[in-house]
Order: sequence, then C-alpha cells, then structure tokens
Amino acid sequence: MSIRFGLFSDLHSSLPHAPQRGSSARTLEDLKEGLSRFAREGVDFAVSLGDNLQPASDAAEQFEQFRSMIRLWCGYGFPVHAVMGNHEFSQLSHAQVLELFQTDRTYYSFTLGGVRFVLLDTCYNPDGGHFSEDNFDWRYGIVPEAELAWLRELLGEKRRTFVFTHGNLYFDKDDPYAAWYRILNCEEIRALLEASGCVEAVFQGHHHTFADAVCGGIRYVNVPSPERSPVYTESDFPVVTVTEDGFLYEGRRLS
Ligand SMILES: [Fe+2]
Repeated sequence: MSIRFGLFSDLHSSLPHAPQRGSSARTLEDLKEGLSRFAREGVDFAVSLGDNLQPASDAAEQFEQFRSMIRLWCGYGFPVHAVMGNHEFSQLSHAQVLELFQTDRTYYSFTLGGVRFVLLDTCYNPDGGHFSEDNFDWRYGIVPEAELAWLRELLGEKRRTFVFTHGNLYFDKDDPYAAWYRILNCEEIRALLEASGCVEAVFQGHHHTFADAVCGGIRYVNVPSPERSPVYTESDFPVVTVTEDGFLYEGRRLS
C-alpha cells in the first residue's frame, strides 16, 4: 500500500499589474511546473495549504483570478484539495470563496486506502466569526468550537490520520516571530490530536519557510513558499508517500 500526495503553500500569486511580494510574479508558472511534477510522480491528490493569491485591483478581479487558478488545478488528472489561508479572504467574502469551491464548508476529511486526511480551517476570528473581506488580523486566527467538536468526533474513530492546516498548530518557541503564525488555541488542538493516538503528521502553511519538528509524538512540517525562492525549486512542491509504517517526505524519512 502506498498513497502519494503533493503539497504547495503560500503561492501569493500576483497579477502583473499588482504589487509583488518576493517572487510572487513567478509562482503561477512555478505552480504549473509543480503540478506537472505531481502528475509525473503519480500522486493520488494534492493539497494547497492556503494563501494562493496576492490582492488584485478589486474583489471582482480577485474572484476571476482565483477561478482561473482553480481551473488550472483541474487539468492534471488528480484532485487538488484546498486548505483556506487568510489571504483567500483579503478581498473576497467567505460566501464568495465557498462559491468558488462549490462547497458549503471549508473543513472536511476524506479517506483513501484506509488512511484519513483532515483539512482544518484556521481562518476564524477570536469571536468565532469567519475571516471575510479583510475583517481579520492574520496573527490571530482560531479553530472555533463547532470545528473542534467535529474534529473530536472524527478522531473518536481510530485510523491513521494526516492533518493539513494553514495557521500553525506547532511553532518553535525560540523563534520570536513564529508565534505570529500559530493559531491562538493551538495547544488545545495539539492536545486533542495527541490524545487521539492516531495522528501521524501535520502539514502547515503560513510560515513560508521549511521546518520540521516532533511534538507529543506527532511530526509537524512547515511547507515552504515558492515566493521565497529565486527560481522554481522542486522542494517548494514536495511529494509525500504514505507507507505501511509511516511516510516519506521527498523520498526520505524525516528525522
Ligand atoms: Fe502566506
């Protein structure tokens, strides 16, 4: 049994006339390279860990920009799942993003080959309201009680589980800036994942740099952003292979 999936995060893709961020002008081309790589590697699915776009001229232009990116995702022969990032809501409303994805929810799970994959939505304000049209501070996201209750019930059924999130559940306490990237109730969620005894790894976006740590028996991997790379780099589009006894990240066991 082996399941393979591709990951990408924080493209921050910008339109030519919009303000740039790092290499954001190039990340749409990187995405095409990355998705082609995933197809060559025979992935079963891919996951965007959020922050796909930089702001456009206005919300209508952003909506079209996002729609054409989702069309691109559909052209490689495997499904692309989307974890919500704060930048998805810098111009668009929550309702517009749901319309783009043709769904009524932004957190869900699916099972493949007996393995469970969980997509969290960390784009909620401390008052429980969803991020929408720039009504948020990117440093202060939470997972609200309703989503926690769903997660608690889901993890009550024991099976191998991998989690995807934009806001960080784990952060390096020695990095003074990393705290900005964690979600406010991350400790509560980590405790829930640990108590389940069946979560093997959490893949995080938001931080833009690679990092890898083990906390409470669960591995936390920060997926890097191509916005930080001077040229297209394969490691910005990592492939994960789920094996019988763990997983390989870019073909190697993290240690
Ligand atoms: Fe980002």
